[in-house]
Amino acid sequence: MKRYDFGAGRPDPASFPVQGLVEAAIHAIPKIGGDFVLYPGDKGHLGLREVMAARESKREGVGVSPDDIALMTGSMQAVTLMAEAFVEKPGDVVITEELTYSGTIGAYKKLGVELVGIPLDEDGMRPDLLEETVRRLISEGRKPKFIYTLATYQNPTGSVMPLDRRKEILRIANHYDVILVEDNCYGDVRFEGEHVPAFYTLDGGENVLYICSLSKVLAPGVRLGYLLAKPPMMRRALDRRYDGGNSVLAACIVGEYFRESMWDHIGKICRIIQEKRDTLFHSLEKHLGDIATWSHPVGGLFLWLKLPETTDMDRLQKLAGEKGVVYARGKGFHVYGEDVKCIRLAFGYPGLDEIREGVEVLAQCVRGAQA
Ligand SMILES: Cc1ncc(COP(=O)(O)O)c(C=O)c1O
Repeated sequence: MKRYDFGAGRPDPASFPVQGLVEAAIHAIPKIGGDFVLYPGDKGHLGLREVMAARESKREGVGVSPDDIALMTGSMQAVTLMAEAFVEKPGDVVITEELTYSGTIGAYKKLGVELVGIPLDEDGMRPDLLEETVRRLISEGRKPKFIYTLATYQNPTGSVMPLDRRKEILRIANHYDVILVEDNCYGDVRFEGEHVPAFYTLDGGENVLYICSLSKVLAPGVRLGYLLAKPPMMRRALDRRYDGGNSVLAACIVGEYFRESMWDHIGKICRIIQEKRDTLFHSLEKHLGDIATWSHPVGGLFLWLKLPETTDMDRLQKLAGEKGVVYARGKGFHVYGEDVKCIRLAFGYPGLDEIREGVEVLAQCVRGAQA
């Protein structure tokens, strides 16, 4: 059976720079040689930290020191570490957007966190509702341990929070003395629009811990991400790290390759993914334009498709499964598990023909799933 894979947030497979990394490995591995027998320590390989500090400095226009970066085994390790470091007991509260990354929801719930979701609009988390909620939680003696937010190319909705709103969210976090954890793992997958500064940049890193990844600009298989934070908070986070650090082998190869070619590579993958996004837009217009609406992401890997309220989501999943269409169901991203009539389509991985055909097949399934 043919498969149309809009499931996970992955970049384009053909863009993976096999030859570039082979050559980088030939140069990078001998440089370390026998020192591979050493444990990397909790911040990891300096070479890749320097390259990632340069990445952040260039995008954000501020100086970032490699000393403030700790490499992680994917950004997911940093996401998990936040709860391990800042949540003290089961039932402690963490605030997120009401719709947020399913991996974070799953990990935090398993760690005993009580998630409180703040509704979003097309500009992301609503600050008025955030303030109301923080105030209420404090009055109940349940001050949130942190606010976890996806402000740029939000997963799953694709929204970008404008500057004014970021400042307002930061004001609230600072006023009520609640840490902000910013997950910016899609930050460089940009097609259109002005860059909006990260919370970390706006705050100077005083009250913000920043998470980023190489999964979305290179590949999830390299398992490299990082945490960027100022010393007191970095120390608190790393106190909970027990894994001896992440792979120096992976870090030195990627560091060697990206030292010269990171922005060329990122530019290339953004052009490829933008073409896929445009193809997805056209296909949706053609096959679902009369009954569905969707977000218009200017970056990231996801489109949020709003289906008619009459859609039977279980039936849709069954029909799509039978036809080989893979997508992520909306309720997996809802902190309270509400069965929203939405699905997330990830457009980085499938080819252009797969997108065209896949949307046509998906549209038949959606029509077949109307009550
Ligand atoms: C918002 C967000 N954070 C973190 C991750 C984890 O990514 P990784 O551990 O591969 O860096 C993902 C993956 O999809 C994500 O969407």
